[in-house]
Amino acid sequence: MKRHLHYGTPAKIFHWLIVALLVVQFPIGWLMPDLHRNMQPGAPMTFHVSFGLTILLLIVLRLAWRLTHPVAPESSLPAWQRLSSELVHWMLYVMVLATTITGWLFASYRGWTVSYFYLFRLPMLASDNAAAGKAIDGLHQAAEWLLLGLIVFHIGAALAHIFIYRDRIMQRMLPG
Ligand code: HEM
Ligand code: HEM
Repeated sequence: MKRHLHYGTPAKIFHWLIVALLVVQFPIGWLMPDLHRNMQPGAPMTFHVSFGLTILLLIVLRLAWRLTHPVAPESSLPAWQRLSSELVHWMLYVMVLATTITGWLFASYRGWTVSYFYLFRLPMLASDNAAAGKAIDGLHQAAEWLLLGLIVFHIGAALAHIFIYRDRIMQRMLPG
């Protein structure tokens, strides 16, 4: 499939929409009350799950768009930067998927009924299973930290292109 030279508007909208949702999602995750046995989800958890599943839907759509509209790395970059940026980008897709799916599984194994922003009942992936819930909780936390590490690295790279290399990499993801 022919690779485009620039990101189109849909790719840019997906990118910044998911960034905005993650900016909300991490703090909700850290600030929401700790879980206790037999606890039912309150408002912070309902919002965490609702934002999380919105992120999952968007990343699936974005991945489908990315696979059908491939974009070549900037040709002026040295080979190691082209390779490493592609690697980090694919890992970001994988880790957003891993974080959202482990979260959804965890909520399912608790046997919870959760609504999507209090609008309708969300489908769950499994039924009540305390042992599986315990195992998957660790995976959701590991995934969330790995994702955060990749994001910090990715933002660091963007800043390096703005302030050190002073090239036009940042412009590739900006409007216009
Ligand atoms: C990319 C999206 C997501 C991010 C960044 C994220 C982040 C977090 C964070 C930071 C925590 C706090 C855990 C800790 O104390 O370290 C958390 C907990 C939790 N998340 Fe997510 N989450 C995401 C998606 C989801 C989804 C889609 C669901 C469910 C459908 C979910 C369900 C949960 C549950 C049930 C907890 C409580 C578990 C615990 O306290 O360990 N998360 N999440
Ligand atoms: C302030 C934060 C961010 C900045 C400044 C930023 C900047 C950029 C830039 C400039 C590119 C284009 C790189 C290139 O052309 O090679 C890009 C691509 C990308 N960014 Fe970000 N980004 C940010 C946050 C995030 C976050 C939180 C994610 C997590 C999902 C993310 C995921 C991606 C992915 C997956 C690509 C590759 C797009 C593709 O090839 O489909 N970015 N970003």
